[in-house]
Parts: sequence; structure tokens; C-alpha cells
Amino acid sequence: MVWVSWFASVICLLGALSAAGKVYIAEVGGKVTLQCGVTSFNSRLEWKHDNLRILVFETNGFINKGSSEIKMRAKKSKDTDIEISKIMENDSGKFTCVGDRSSHEHHLIVVSVSAPSGPLKVGADATLECKANSGVSGLCQPEVKWRKPDGSVQPESKVEFKSVALTDTGIWQCLVSCQGETFTKNVTINVEEPTTPTLVNDPKNPNSGNGKDSSVSLVLIWSDVFAQPGGPEDPMMLLGLVWWIWVAIGAGSLVVIILVIVIIVMHKRNKSLQKKFLRMKKAQLSQKPKKYCQCVRQTAAAKPQQGRRREKPSALPLQPL
Ligand SMILES: *[C@@H]1O[C@H](CO)[C@@H](O)[C@H](O)[C@H]1NC(C)=O
Ligand SMILES: *[C@@H]1O[C@H](CO)[C@@H](O)[C@H](O)[C@H]1NC(C)=O
Repeated sequence: MVWVSWFASVICLLGALSAAGKVYIAEVGGKVTLQCGVTSFNSRLEWKHDNLRILVFETNGFINKGSSEIKMRAKKSKDTDIEISKIMENDSGKFTCVGDRSSHEHHLIVVSVSAPSGPLKVGADATLECKANSGVSGLCQPEVKWRKPDGSVQPESKVEFKSVALTDTGIWQCLVSCQGETFTKNVTINVEEPTTPTLVNDPKNPNSGNGKDSSVSLVLIWSDVFAQPGGPEDPMMLLGLVWWIWVAIGAGSLVVIILVIVIIVMHKRNKSLQKKFLRMKKAQLSQKPKKYCQCVRQTAAAKPQQGRRREKPSALPLQPL
């Protein structure tokens, strides 16, 4: 189909303007077949890129290579045509086919599309770009547009998504046109809902939740407790509490009990000390009056009164001293 249309247009253009060329649009990495414009030659036919020779076809079937780097990726296709593969951006520009007495100028536009690889998350930034390189000797200025999945057309070569939406999902088409020649490149954009983090399966902590591995370090168990509380089926759980909480409660209780015992013991000791102290004081007090009595007796000689008031015969033996 394309071949026939190219051929028809070349014939048509040849009829109108003898040296007018054709525009070819191809993608980077792809291949293109350039048609000379004549189907036969008598002595030799030469293909050039800009002004560098690519290939020279001889009538005897020989093909001579020129100096252009493209010769490595070019081959004779049909009588007068050449096929260029592994197209590079700098392959764009003017291609001239020089026949017996006529030359035919053609033009190659090289399209490169950059699109995000893989699915995008809703709200992410992304850039879609379609570049059409027409080379230094531009025969025409290519027009580049993007057709959105909804069918509307954006007249820019670059689409910048500030925040992709689910509605951006679909086939985006880069449309390149120049002198009636068109090129379409489909790009599929996939937009996904952001995945909600699940607590059940923590990929960073494959041991979380089972707790059966006897080699798990205490740090891991600790992080498990905070990363995800185990279910009731968790062997490490008792009445909904992790074992170490029980250990902590037990240790705490023990400390409180010991403290209480210590307080009681101290209190008792204190009391007995106090009692001892009181007893000692009492003993001191009971000794003092002897002296006092002595003094009183020495100063005030109220013998009958004292003797009646206190029955301390023990104090009397001191008197003679
Ligand atoms: C295109 O560029 C490559 C390097 O990127 C270079 O090797 C090659 O010769 C260039 N081709 C043309 C046709 O200028
Ligand atoms: C590009 O996508 C359109 C639909 O948007 C489809 O009709 C067409 O066949 C696709 N072309 C290629 C080359 O996949």
C-alpha cells in the first residue's frame, strides 16, 4: 500500500517538477526505503547524504561504497532504491539520487519519541516528547502534534503532565506531518491508583508476625511489636498482650513488693530504735531526780514532804555520799 502510494507520488512529482523530491518520515532505530525517482540508469547511479556519497550502483551490478557513515547501514533495495536500517537522528536531512543526467533530492525526517516506561502512579509527573529532526538542509519544517486518548489534539511536541490522572490512560499518538507526508507513533500510557501500604505483608520484615524463629533477635521482636501487632493466634501473645509486657509487669510487681518489704522492715527497725531511745531517756530521767533530790534536799530541807511524795529507797543510799 505505502509502497504503491510512494511510487505513485514519485511518478506524479516527476511528471510535474523533474528534480522535486519526496519527504520520508521514519523513527530512530527503524528503517526506511528511499526511492530514487527513476527506475533505471544507463551507466551509474549515485546516492548521497548531504554531500557525502553513500553507495554507487554500477550497471554491471557492482556496488561501491562512499564516504558517508550511512554506507554501513545502507543496501540496495530495488533497481535504484536504497534501504537504510538502524536509523539515527543525524541520518535526517537531504538524500540525493544522481542518475544518468538527472538528480533527485529527497528528504528524511527522523522521529524520536520519549515516553515514561512502565505504569505511572496517579499524581506523578511525566513528560511525553516527540521530536522530529529534519536535518540541516530542511526541505520542510515538520509539524508535530499529540492526539490524546479522548481524540483531542494538542499542537505541541512536548506534553508535560504536572499530575497524571486515571483519564490519561490510553494510547497517545504522536502525529508528524510534512508536505503531505504523515507519520504516527502510538505510545501507551498506563496510570494506576497508588497502592495503599498493607500492614499484613511487610516486605521489609519477612519474619514479622510469625515469631516462631528461635534465632530472631530481641531487636526484631521489638520492631515486630511496633511494626504490626500480632493477631490472637500469635503464639507470643497472651490475653492480647505480648510476652515481654507480661515480663515487664512481673518484674515491676516484684520491685514493688521488695520495696514494700524494705519499707516495713525499716519502719519496724525505726520503731524499735525509737523504743530503745525512749527507754534510755526514761532511764536517764529516772536517774536525774536522784541528783536533783539531793540538790533539793541540800537547799530546802523539807524532809517529811519528799519522803511522802516519792518512794525511792534506792535514792537514799546515795545520800551519805
Ligand atoms: C551520527 O552520529 C554518530 C555519533 O553519534 C557518528 O558516529 C555518525 O558518523 C554520525 N552520522 C552522520 C551521518 O553524521
Ligand atoms: C495506534 O492506535 C490506534 C488507536 O488509537 C489504532 O487504531 C492503530 O492501529 C494503532 N497503530 C499501531 C501501529 O499500533
